[in-house]
Amino acid sequence: MPPDPSADDRPDRRKLTDLELKSARPSLDTVRDTPRRPIYAILENIRSAYNVGSMFRTADALHLSRLYICGYSAFPPHKMITKTALGAEHSVPWEKQADAPALARSLQDQGMQIAVLEQTTDAVDIWDADLRFPVCFVVGNEVQGVSDELVAAADLCLQVPMMGVKQSLNVATAFGVVGFELARRWGLGKDEG
Ligand SMILES: C[S@@+](CC[C@H](N)C(=O)[O-])C[C@H]1O[C@@H](n2cnc3c(N)ncnc32)[C@H](O)[C@@H]1O
Repeated sequence: MPPDPSADDRPDRRKLTDLELKSARPSLDTVRDTPRRPIYAILENIRSAYNVGSMFRTADALHLSRLYICGYSAFPPHKMITKTALGAEHSVPWEKQADAPALARSLQDQGMQIAVLEQTTDAVDIWDADLRFPVCFVVGNEVQGVSDELVAAADLCLQVPMMGVKQSLNVATAFGVVGFELARRWGLGKDEG
């Protein structure tokens, strides 16, 4: 008979309290002074300000170097961003840029690898990607995706494998999956540039 996984079997297990969780986090000042991972992200024409806020929250967790908020994407200060970012818009360095493809080309000229998240004819699964740091990943509009111009300019295209009936993920979800995989790879010291 398999053991009964009742609460009595693990009397010491409990959820951490809000206070315990919060006291383990660095202060805003400490975060600002801590070296960041060489991972950047471009948000191109994101329609929903809630999605932008959600990506701020994930970017904070990942300690990303910078968010480039491009095209008509909403940017802070914005009520809807705050609702999902929950203050992370203050801890993540960000800047507004009008033209995402022009920005990507200029970052490439500075030695950054541009990795577009999009399902293309030559996209590689994120788990198998040949990454080089510093890297800047790009997410696109909820309906149109990343612009053709930026897809053409990218060093590589990354896809998150889809196993169900839907063809794509919510943009903020794709941002999280890929962001954590890039952070994991950097942590492994694999393919460091
Ligand atoms: C909802 S998708 C855009 C629409 C998508 N092209 C479609 O046909 O459903 C929004 C953005 O999320 C990212 N994304 C979503 N699912 C993805 C996946 N499976 N692989 C890579 N990126 C993905 C891409 O950056 C994309 O531009």
